[in-house]
Amino acid sequence: MKSAVYPGSFDPVTFGHLDIIERAAAIFDELTVSVLNNTAKTPLFSVEERVNILKEATKHLPNVKIDSFSGLLVDYAVRNDIQVSVRGLRAITDFEYELQIAQTNNKLSGGKLDTVFLTTNLAYSYLSSSSVREIGSFNGDISQFVPEFVVDMVYKKFGF
Ligand code: PNS
Repeated sequence: MKSAVYPGSFDPVTFGHLDIIERAAAIFDELTVSVLNNTAKTPLFSVEERVNILKEATKHLPNVKIDSFSGLLVDYAVRNDIQVSVRGLRAITDFEYELQIAQTNNKLSGGKLDTVFLTTNLAYSYLSSSSVREIGSFNGDISQFVPEFVVDMVYKKFGF
């Protein structure tokens, strides 16, 4: 069985992430979307909230599991017998950063973890969680970027 992990911050999940999740779920037998618990950052949504959002947004995908992790991705992947990390590439600007992470993870894992890149759907190539947070913080329209139930959750965080 080919298992893959799609790691990320997902703060919050966007239609761009969901497009990658749907396409990766069609390629791999099992896909675990795993939220990084990054103590160095102050997120908008807690890990638990992000996990619950992802569960709701992917409930139609039977081979998608939602989880969270702390520490190194390679340790998490090896511990869970996962051989592939999935990442989305939006534009050339993502490439250098993603290539560095992919090479480092492969080296750190002794070749046990490979990275598969899916090119983000052009319709979402401009989209990021950070712009959703910024637009949301000014009560701007984020309905084209995240699922409807997430729109309300973002506004609530900013007191709207
Ligand atoms: O959604 P993001 O914030 O771009 O995701 C980045 C992520 C979670 C994939 C990356 O930061 C990560 O895997 N962090 C875990 C720590 C780690 O393994 N670092 C080694 C790679 S250099």
